[in-house]
Amino acid sequence: MLSIIQDLGKILSYKQKIHLIFIFLSAFIMSALDMIGVGSLVGFIAVISTPEVVIELIPIEALKFFLLDLDQKTLVIYSAILIISVFLIKNLIFLILYYVEAKIKKNLNVDFSKRIFATFLKRPYIFHTLTSPVSSINTILPVTNRAILYIFSSLTFFREGLTIFFLMGTLIFIDIKTYSIIFILFLIISFLFNFFSKKKADYYGGKTNFAEEKTLGHLNKAFSYIKLIKLFNTNDFWVKKFFNEKNRLHEYQTISYLLSRIPKIILEIAGVSIVVFIFIFFIVVDNKNIEEIIPFLTLIVLIVVRCLPAFTNLNQSLNSINYTNKSINRILEILTDKTFDQDDPKYISKKKILQLEKIEVKNLSFSYNEDYKILEDVSFDIFKGQIIGINGTTGSGKSTLVDLILGLLKPNKGQILLNGEELNKKSYENINIGYVPQDTYISDDTIEENIGFNINKKDIDPTKIKEAIKSSNLDDFINNLPEKVNTYIGEDGVRISGGQKQRIGLARALYDDPNLLILDEATSALDNETEASIINEITKLKKDKIIIMIAHRLNTLKNCDKIITVKDKKIYLDIKK
Ligand SMILES: Nc1ncnc2c1ncn2[C@@H]1O[C@H](COP(=O)(O)OP(=O)(O)OP(=O)(O)O)[C@@H](O)[C@H]1O
Ligand SMILES: [Mg+2]
Repeated sequence: MLSIIQDLGKILSYKQKIHLIFIFLSAFIMSALDMIGVGSLVGFIAVISTPEVVIELIPIEALKFFLLDLDQKTLVIYSAILIISVFLIKNLIFLILYYVEAKIKKNLNVDFSKRIFATFLKRPYIFHTLTSPVSSINTILPVTNRAILYIFSSLTFFREGLTIFFLMGTLIFIDIKTYSIIFILFLIISFLFNFFSKKKADYYGGKTNFAEEKTLGHLNKAFSYIKLIKLFNTNDFWVKKFFNEKNRLHEYQTISYLLSRIPKIILEIAGVSIVVFIFIFFIVVDNKNIEEIIPFLTLIVLIVVRCLPAFTNLNQSLNSINYTNKSINRILEILTDKTFDQDDPKYISKKKILQLEKIEVKNLSFSYNEDYKILEDVSFDIFKGQIIGINGTTGSGKSTLVDLILGLLKPNKGQILLNGEELNKKSYENINIGYVPQDTYISDDTIEENIGFNINKKDIDPTKIKEAIKSSNLDDFINNLPEKVNTYIGEDGVRISGGQKQRIGLARALYDDPNLLILDEATSALDNETEASIINEITKLKKDKIIIMIAHRLNTLKNCDKIITVKDKKIYLDIKK
């Protein structure tokens, strides 16, 4: 708990800390208002039953005489108006405080999710090849929700603890024996309950995170495999598996829910039994009449109305704290990790474009893991105005080589130089890159938004779109669509053909007139004629660019100035012109 508070201290802004302190204090205001509410109700009952006694207690003489002059009925009406006003004002304040609290909670949640998302995006590419996107999404959404719950439960815990402490102080002062017994009994119940449930809540909290990830992952998989599921008619298999995952998740949540409810049940039974017992004691054993025990009645109401919920909340928040413990730890671990904070490159929308004159690869070695080397001691140069072909068998390391040139992966040995300078995180800040990955992703947006995917719709330049469409041979296809570039093409381009998808990927890469254009099997799905025409278009653009083209088919690479063949961790150069 202490380390969590310390970590929170590190990641919360000054404003956020003030907000949390405000919530903590506002709860005391609520508590006090609750007390005033209960007190005024008791007062109202007293005015109805024994008005003279109540009026005698008023310290202001003038008011006292004024009230004594009134008849019983008017007095009751006055006190009724008073009590309704008290409750109106009290609840109005409550409403304002609830609003502020909800706002603070929302802001904190959104801020945390945003920061975690930003942190994930900042992490190196290799991290994302090792972590499933679903796991990251799960952390950004539900796990963050639970981490926020932890913070608010902790506030509730301390607040209720303090309330109980003060109540205990006041009540013990009035009747030490009765109330010490009640408080000690409540404390023992709470302690015992927490003792037995702590481990379980923590355990099921961790399980919930895991099960939620599995459920999300299952849905993600199912929709990605939709074609195969339809083909093999395996709906039932997938639905059943989903049911099992979701059911497991809710079983954990049910247990946690039950754990959080049990203290209320035990405490209520104990509380009511105690109250009834005290009544019986005073009336039957001690033979007191009702009027005599009115002060006790007030205190008993206080116990039922204030102490019981305080103890219930205390236990519930403690259970929540245990349940969300793993979530807050995961979030704090991510937010306090500063490993990837330095040299975070900035996206500059109006960048000063630098020409890319030369890429040098010197004695480069790379492996994803120690056991298996992908490239060993590889060297070559690429110059502006050249098209470089990369060829090689599947799995030989072509895409890996490109990832290294792009700085997505770090070499184990050797160097990559851009314009004579060693590749670093900022190298590409002022260079336009056009990249068609081997598995081009198409989002469920319009063609136009897919081509200008990194910018807001309103900032997309129609002239650039037109150029990109022309160079990637998409004119005919788009002209035949009813909504032209504003046609929606479905998640991962399900409503277009494989070749159209590739060409949209190509148009996306060409949109910003890149200095470095990388095509990883970008034309593999096209017929020879379309491919040849696109490659001719691209060749026309090569003057002020470096173009790297990966292809299995040598025919695709026929316009290249240099062909690099990757084979057995080495490269073989074939200079054509
Ligand atoms: N993230 C990764 N972690 C571990 N190994 C990887 C990773 N990505 C690729 N590999 C391995 O590295 C080798 C080279 O992969 P790469 O994708 O560069 O091949 P490629 O030449 O582009 O193949 P293809 O022609 O099929 O696209 C492969 O054996 C592959 O299994
Ligand atoms: Mg590849």
